[in-house]
Amino acid sequence: PAHAGLAVVGEPATTPAVEPVERLSIVYGSQTGNSRRVAEQLAERAQAAGLPVRLLRAGAYPLRELAQERYLVVVISSQGDGDPPDDAIGFFEFVAGKRAPKLPQLKFAVLGLGDSSYPKYCAVSRELDARLTALGGTRFVELGEADVDFETVAATWSARTLETAREALSGSGAPARHASPLHAVAAPPRPLHARERPFAAAVLENQRIVSRDSARDLRHVELSLEGSGLRYEAGDAIGVWPRNPPQLVEQWLSALKLDGAAEIEHDGRRLPLARWLGQERELTRLSRPLVAAQAAASGSGELQRLLQPEQRDAFAALLAGHQPIDLLRRFPVAWEPAQLLAALRPLTPRLYSIASSPALVGQDEVHLTVAVVEYIAHGSAHVGAASAFLAGAGDDVRVPVFVESNERFRLPADGSRDVIMIGPGTGVAPFRAFVQERQATGAGGRNWLFFGNRHFQQDFLYQVEWQEALRSGALDRLDLAFSRDSASKVYVQQRLREQGRELYAWLREGAHLYVCGDATHMARDVHEALVYIIASHGGLSIEDADSWLGELLQQGRYARDIY
Ligand code: 2AM
Repeated sequence: PAHAGLAVVGEPATTPAVEPVERLSIVYGSQTGNSRRVAEQLAERAQAAGLPVRLLRAGAYPLRELAQERYLVVVISSQGDGDPPDDAIGFFEFVAGKRAPKLPQLKFAVLGLGDSSYPKYCAVSRELDARLTALGGTRFVELGEADVDFETVAATWSARTLETAREALSGSGAPARHASPLHAVAAPPRPLHARERPFAAAVLENQRIVSRDSARDLRHVELSLEGSGLRYEAGDAIGVWPRNPPQLVEQWLSALKLDGAAEIEHDGRRLPLARWLGQERELTRLSRPLVAAQAAASGSGELQRLLQPEQRDAFAALLAGHQPIDLLRRFPVAWEPAQLLAALRPLTPRLYSIASSPALVGQDEVHLTVAVVEYIAHGSAHVGAASAFLAGAGDDVRVPVFVESNERFRLPADGSRDVIMIGPGTGVAPFRAFVQERQATGAGGRNWLFFGNRHFQQDFLYQVEWQEALRSGALDRLDLAFSRDSASKVYVQQRLREQGRELYAWLREGAHLYVCGDATHMARDVHEALVYIIASHGGLSIEDADSWLGELLQQGRYARDIY
């Protein structure tokens, strides 16, 4: 368990707390792990400061205890269109909904994580903060909002929250021994390697897994975790700290007419500019703050206009179709190195769903399925930082990695349960891990995979392995959707609908359902298809089918790893 030693409540409590408890409840709703990390750190520090504290993921929060809660901290992220993370949907809907209790006794603090490039920035945390106030609660710390580079804001907000909680709780008369059951448990030893201290993994294998005539490059990469002390489970992800391509750094330096060897001091560190750009700053992702900085520094009216609220669509198109270098070339600015470093975001790790099971391959190696992002735009080649880094990684490269646990995306504890897996494109990665795991552990339940990609001939990922799994019985059913082999597109959700009756029968018998891959289009369309299937084969209205599926999500029987 990720928080052995801290009072983490894994499952909803069965006995309601009657007496209001003088303690700090820290609840997190996390999709990629950032909110969880912030909440964990706060909980550890609060505990170290002697405060009675409990840490819970939103999906495990006992909702009926909310009415007794005195000090509540919520750290929660907002997804694409202002939605809560899957694990926090129940918590969010409860607080936002009609059945929420009045909370006059509550003191609360909310920190939102989000991406300011999207219009509904931090929508979830804003609404929670407003709702908790409307229910009678009092903020003990102002609502915090942290952008993609969340660390600084999160640290400041956490410090303030801890400080205020300390004053409130130490003066509350809560006997110190209330804290002792938590203190009695020794804190778990810190793992040697984590996000901020990645392990330098050797590359064991780096293989193109699409046919030669494929326009795209998809890769199977195997990394060594030997000696790292890192441990993972099927369903987890690997965080990769990328490096920017050296050619791109060269392009930046020449566009800016700056010297890469010049030592630049920034954030209390002194490094050559080329190193800052190559390893410390985000060069391949455009963001709203960077466009704003570029607009201000270049004085471009065109850029300034794009930042206006009514230019939402044009701005989204700018973000989708450009990398920072394109803006730099089109709206030149004579940046001073230090100003430039302040305008650029720190480089952040990319998460890759793990494609191997430790039960089969052991903890010393980990497999990834990587789609290499590369395209021509505005007259020059563009690449994605992490995928280009991984695609070029061979014997001479070490890849800085850590394990990002994904506690919600897990095979059923009961191996006799059936599982249905939907993973088009590289979304198939964790299902390779799942099938391996079920085979290695001798799980008796049936396994059904829906996979899709562009062309049968070119990008049927792990084709030989799936065929072997079908033969050996490790996989019971495989349904395929190749989108570009026929005149009209065929997607996985069409296959789901065709198999609706059978699929519904599996669900009725308790099958677990998993979706991995694109969040914006695929996961939404697949969800809609599932609702339709449940409605038509279960004889339910669309609304009832939707809440049935919502129930499965709540119970963790429908889990998504989407990005
Ligand atoms: P396309 O690129 O031909 O549109 C993996 O990327 C596969 O997912 C591809 O076959 C891709 O098809 C397909 N795909 C694209 N949009 C999708 C959607 N909304 N739902 C399901 N699959 C989709």
